[in-house]
Amino acid sequence: MTDIEKKSGAPADLVAAAQAAQKNAYAPYSNFHVGTALRTEKGAIIPGCNVENAAYPEGVCAEAGAISAMVLSGERKFSEIVVVGMGDMACTPCGGCRQKIREFTGPDALIHIVTEDGRHLFTLTREELLPHSFGPENLK
Ligand code: THU
Repeated sequence: MTDIEKKSGAPADLVAAAQAAQKNAYAPYSNFHVGTALRTEKGAIIPGCNVENAAYPEGVCAEAGAISAMVLSGERKFSEIVVVGMGDMACTPCGGCRQKIREFTGPDALIHIVTEDGRHLFTLTREELLPHSFGPENLK
């Protein structure tokens, strides 16, 4: 599969899981509901949604929730992730989530950005999402 083919769409199973997760988002402060689903190295699909609270900065992004659930399940690596935001604008991972994604992916992992109604906007590699990143190797 070429890079262009790899980037031509978002996997339907992850899109469906992210859309379902978005329905459970708890975002009464921003009213911005996000759903995500990642595929682990072993092939498991793990969803996440954003969870806010009254102390606004303590809210947790959808991606962070899915990554925590993946680690809890015993896995440490994922190959791709779908992020679904609201409306037609791309919901790309925030800076903190880019670093969290960085920790548990290889540079070729795919980040698919999809609208809430399932339209694929674009796909980035992890390296494109967070170029020249600092990671575990820097501490060896
Ligand atoms: N949010 C996510 O969960 N993921 C993203 O990729 C971008 C933003 C959440 C954080 C907050 O609960 C709400 O969206 C508005 O920023």
